[in-house]
Amino acid sequence: MKHESVSKAEAKQKTIAILTSGGDAPGMNGAIRAVTRAGINAGYNILGVRRGFHGLWRGDIINLDSRSVSDILHRGGTFLMTARSETFKTEEGLGKAVDITEIFNIDVLVAIGGDGTARGAKALAEAGVPVIVIPATIDNDIGATEYALGFDTALNTAVQAIDKLRDTASSHERCSVVEVMGRHSGYIALGVGVASGAEVILVPEREFDFDDDIVLTLIKDRNAGKRHYIVVMAEGVGLGSDMAQLIEKRTGIETRSTQLGYLQRGGAPSFRDRWISSLMGVKAVRAISEGRLNRMIVHKEGDCKDIDLDEALATEKRILDDTINMADTITI
Ligand code: F6P
Repeated sequence: MKHESVSKAEAKQKTIAILTSGGDAPGMNGAIRAVTRAGINAGYNILGVRRGFHGLWRGDIINLDSRSVSDILHRGGTFLMTARSETFKTEEGLGKAVDITEIFNIDVLVAIGGDGTARGAKALAEAGVPVIVIPATIDNDIGATEYALGFDTALNTAVQAIDKLRDTASSHERCSVVEVMGRHSGYIALGVGVASGAEVILVPEREFDFDDDIVLTLIKDRNAGKRHYIVVMAEGVGLGSDMAQLIEKRTGIETRSTQLGYLQRGGAPSFRDRWISSLMGVKAVRAISEGRLNRMIVHKEGDCKDIDLDEALATEKRILDDTINMADTITI
């Protein structure tokens, strides 16, 4: 039941609520900032939901004004915090979340996150709560968009780490197996592998033969005079520590593994994540003010636009074999 006591002026003012959900990603703060400031500029009241969908059904909600989002554009993580919520996935949890949107007079919810966040937003839309999704996950595995916030910063973090690993691998004439994030996808591994000049790149999207694609490659490299070897491995392929043991056992090359883990999720957002998060936030408010709801903001051919959420969720993408083959031609 909506409050009837609001003043006429308040009744006319629409409210946008913002939440971040799933794994955090550099650029989330930029998106929160842009939605808040563009929303205020467009005459909306802005609320921040803390701790993602878990906070939504609990009513963990704060007012946001222009000053609330000062000094966050350059910070990693999400100042609204995030949390994974099993409760929200239940009918009861969803129902509580819908009730909260009515109690707080929320007209549109902007959900910033990855695939799980988009599906949670879809559930709210089906329950009658208008939503806009902004894609944010370092995995960059959301089919409808060429870019998800956080990907560029994560790539830069990993490349800088591998440059450091290359120094010590070279000093000790070692092979360094670097396990990177990406959940079930290989976008991080492929990007980082090519950008760091890795000898071997392993992604879930392509089968490999241990002897032909790894052992033979490293032995040929050693015979060609290489003094160090970098193997970039997506976590969806397996554990880097297991791979390191196998490589050392089969090749005799001293091998060490490094799991970059959560380092890839933090750090100051790159220019690209600050730029695209700002664009996506503005485009989200523009879609709302122009009456287009239940949309995802996607990055396509250098620009951001809103598309139907159902269409977005039905869109899949996969690393092209040709892209992987291209990488093969230069990772020798
Ligand atoms: O989805 C982003 C991501 O960092 C994945 O690459 C990784 O597998 C997962 O989150 C880790 O999830 P959590 O933060 O819940 O451990």
